Amino acid sequence: MTEHAPDDVTVIEPAQGRPEVRRRHAANRAAWDQAAVRYTEELPAAVERLRAGHSSVHPVERAALGDLAPWCRRAVHLQCASGEDTLSLLTEGAGEVVGVDISAAHIANARSTAAALGAPAEFHVCDVLDTPRELDGTADLVYTGRGALCWLHDLDGWAAVAARLLRPGGLLSVFDGHPAAWLFDREPAHPRYSGIDYFAHAESNIGWSADYIGALAGEPSVKYERLWTIGQVVQALIDAGLTITRLAELPDAFWAEFPNMPEEVRRRLPSTFLLHARR
Ligand SMILES: C[S@@+](CC[C@H](N)C(=O)[O-])C[C@H]1O[C@@H](n2cnc3c(N)ncnc32)[C@H](O)[C@@H]1O
Repeated sequence: MTEHAPDDVTVIEPAQGRPEVRRRHAANRAAWDQAAVRYTEELPAAVERLRAGHSSVHPVERAALGDLAPWCRRAVHLQCASGEDTLSLLTEGAGEVVGVDISAAHIANARSTAAALGAPAEFHVCDVLDTPRELDGTADLVYTGRGALCWLHDLDGWAAVAARLLRPGGLLSVFDGHPAAWLFDREPAHPRYSGIDYFAHAESNIGWSADYIGALAGEPSVKYERLWTIGQVVQALIDAGLTITRLAELPDAFWAEFPNMPEEVRRRLPSTFLLHARR
């Protein structure tokens, strides 16, 4: 069960070793460079939304973070895509924002949106694992966005980056898909076990769901996704030296993950989780 419900899924072993992690991340970069075209088409509308003061930060995140203005001089958004969520953190009160994404096409979109708005923002094209060292210790908030962790194949490496970016006392906010959602097939009206190994699921897949990216010109890239359990996420952050201050498992969805399930059934399943940790 992935965010993008692609057509062609192969179960694979979790990545062992740095070269395989890097190979999978590089493949994902190619896939996201292709997918960014959908975000490019949306840019004028995104600029208008942001200019009008609309924030795409999810209500669950907003309720947990509160007004950023009193405490967040700088927010760093890891896996920022085309930057609408990143720039929304300014609407939420951040003084300045920094976005990091592996896709050059997404970062080009983010930079053009920020320039159109004259926003105090900078963006870096790199693997999250290579987030520039000059940002270390500068973030009051590290924000990871929705649909982020499943693209990463080195969770300890990710946690170490989040920890080094934070200033002492700074806050990491993760709001992402709940790993248990992968246990259920997408299409049925009632929950049906997908057959995956909850504790060690990785997959390669091809194509994007019609309600997210849809069909793209050219040969679609293979991409690689990974289920990280709540326990693995929490332990990685503890090992990176962070203190978990909040953890909630929630029925609130941020995309139509079970489009045919009656709402009263769907809301009995965990869809997302919210985690806060402090350095
Ligand atoms: C689902 S999108 C995030 C969407 C975003 N929350 C939004 O609503 O627009 C996942 C993002 O992660 C980025 N990404 C995937 N692997 C990455 C990596 N290893 N390092 C940095 N960014 C990565 C992709 O390029 C993509 O922009």
